[in-house]
This record gives sequence, C-alpha cells and structure tokens, in this order.
Amino acid sequence: MIVPIHLENTTTVKYDVVIDALPKLTFNRKVAIITNTTVAPLHLETLKSKIDADELFVVTIEDGESFKNLATIEQILNELFEHKLDRKSLLIALGGGVIGDMTGFTASLYQRGIGFVQVPTTLLAQVDASVGGKTGVNNPYGKNLIGAFYQPEAVYIDTEFLKTLPSREFAAGIAEIVKMAVMFDKAYFDFLMEADFSQKEVLEKAIERSVELKAEVVNLDEKESGIRAVLNYGHTFGHVIENETKYTQYVHGEAVAIGIMMANALAVELGMMHQEEMDLVEQFLIKHNLPTTYEIKDVDAFYDKFFLDKKAANNKLKFILPQNIGGHEMRDDISESTLKKVLKAF
Ligand code: NAD
Ligand code: GLY
Repeated sequence: MIVPIHLENTTTVKYDVVIDALPKLTFNRKVAIITNTTVAPLHLETLKSKIDADELFVVTIEDGESFKNLATIEQILNELFEHKLDRKSLLIALGGGVIGDMTGFTASLYQRGIGFVQVPTTLLAQVDASVGGKTGVNNPYGKNLIGAFYQPEAVYIDTEFLKTLPSREFAAGIAEIVKMAVMFDKAYFDFLMEADFSQKEVLEKAIERSVELKAEVVNLDEKESGIRAVLNYGHTFGHVIENETKYTQYVHGEAVAIGIMMANALAVELGMMHQEEMDLVEQFLIKHNLPTTYEIKDVDAFYDKFFLDKKAANNKLKFILPQNIGGHEMRDDISESTLKKVLKAF
C-alpha cells in the first residue's frame, strides 16, 4: 500500500508512506541509522539486512521520553560529525515517536539539513508520528517546544515490527487511530468497532486509513495554522492528565483516551454528540484496554492547567470537539462554568 503525500509550498515536497513488508533499500550515500537500546536488539539486524548503502553505521541512544532533549541531539550530531556524514547523507529513524521526532530534528540541523527516512516501530508512530514532518524535542518548559517542520523522504511501515511491542504501547496507538475516525470518518469508525487487530490485513487497513486521513490534513495545513489542530482531539485534556500524574501513570495514548472521553462529555453537554455515540467510543476504548475515567481531585487546579498548553493562544482555550462521530469543530467559546460542570461530573 502506498499513501502519497504532496505538499505545495515554496518548494514542493512529495514522499510516499509505504505500508508493506520492509523492502530492500538501496542508497548511493552514507547512511546512519538512529535507534535506541530497546529497539536495536530487537530489530536493527532486520533493518540492516535490507539496506545497501555506501557506508552504514548506527547511533544508539538511551530509551525514553526523558532523553528527548537537546543534549541527546548534540550527542547524535557529534557522532554524525565523527563519521563524516556529508550533505548528501541520510538518517534512518528506527523506533517509536521519540526516535522519529529526534531523528527528523537532527536531520533538519545537520549541515542545515540532510534527508531522513522513517521506519516506525510502534503503532503510534506508524499511524501518526512518522507522517507529517513534526520533529523536535522537549525542554524544561514543556513537551515538543523546540523543533522544526521537516518532512521525511519516505516512511516505511511494516507491521512485523509491532510483534515485539508491549500491549500497553499497542493500545496507545489504538487511541490515535480512533481519534482519526471520530474526527473525520464515520465509516472508518464502524470498521474499527468490528476490527480484530490481530489479523494483519485488518491492522494494515486501519493503519492505511489513519495515514490517508493524516496525509489529507497535512497536505492542507502542514504548519498547523488551521485544520491540523484537529489532530489534537483528546490531547488538551490528555496533556493536563499527563502533567498531573507527572508522566508516570499513563503512557501518552492512554492519557489521550481519557482526554477523548472528556472531550466527548463536553460535546454531549453542548449538544454536539449523542450520549449513545459517546458510549460507543467508550466501549471501543475499553475493549482495547484503554482507560476511560480519571478522578479529578481538584477541578479548579485541573482547569488552570489548560493554560499551560502551548495551544492556549492569548490565554484563549481552544477545544477540538466531535460533531457526532465523523465530524469535528474547533471551539474557543466554551465558558469556564460549562467546562467545570463537565469536569465535575466526569
Ligand atoms: P516511544 O518512542 O517512547 O516508544 C514507546 C516504547 O516502545 C519505548 O520504550 C520504545 O523503545 C519501545 N519500542 C519501540 N518500538 C518497539 C518495538 N517494536 N518492540 C518493543 N518495544 C518497542 O513512544 P511512541 O508512543 O512511539 O511515541 C511517543 C512520542 O512521539 C512522543 O515523544 C510524542 O511527542 C511523539 N509524537 C510525535 C508526533 C508527530 O507528529 N511528530 C505525533 C504523536 C506523537
Ligand atoms: N500528532 C499531531 C500532528 O501531527 O499534528
């Protein structure tokens, strides 16, 4: 399967997202694979066996969101200089969203920009992070606050990599899949309700549809000045939950799943979604072992944390809400009292 991406800018950017068994890849250039200490023992040899390059070497970094920072970027850059990569060289990201975001950002920086390819190995990275060119790192002020929009040359999605993925990480990817369906495509949601993701063809179909929808959004709005913000459905609430629980209790997709339920509750309160639709989404999340509830101990403190989000422009909160299943609306007119009422009842 191939999902074409076509961006019209001052320059035209085109690349394919290939959803299939990893093909043989030939590069007449130096290649550096960027991976981490968890993924390397599992999948590095498979990737290396598929690559034919002028020179090939590997940079292995520590695993974890806590290493997604400028210090690690500098470490990777130093290794690239040690190996004398030139402006024609290529980086390949082998890993989840953390590796993908950091590899892309490093590629954007090295000698003012070299090419990179994504080989995502988590479901979340396959359906979301590897596509669309958001790259970057965290800093003490927040997540992903430093970075660049920098598109890969290609994305190779092979579901075989997912066989070693822990089940919680797999479920985290399912949350990002259902996000796309609820926002954009009722028929896709109906398909997901019946889907058995242990079947390879079903999983590939779900990945393909998510990538197609993401590609449509990115084609329209690469730099998130409009519709791309819809991809943050569930995230405004999810980020507060991650912040309150200090990033220790939930993996990102789990916090997003709860955030989706909170956004849905707000949509029901506003008459944008039927209670039965909210119940269907909840059933789906529960079926896939995702959390759907969260005890808010202090609603005022929870509310105040919305303003930490980098998307709260001019202190105005913007919520991405479902318009039934398959539609969406961005709302910046929700009153504090309505929001707090929904949060109290959650
Ligand atoms: P991750 O990269 O931390 O991977 C999760 C865990 O799974 C890690 O421990 C990783 O080493 C391990 N892992 C990866 N592949 C594996 C495999 N095949 N088998 C076994 N273990 C494996 O997390 P993630 O959920 O993939 O990505 C989250 C990151 O992606 C966050 O930093 C987030 O900001 C970013 N993100 C970026 C975008 C974007 O558009 N660029 C979108 C969504 C999320
Ligand atoms: N994951 C959100 C985006 O790519 O915009």
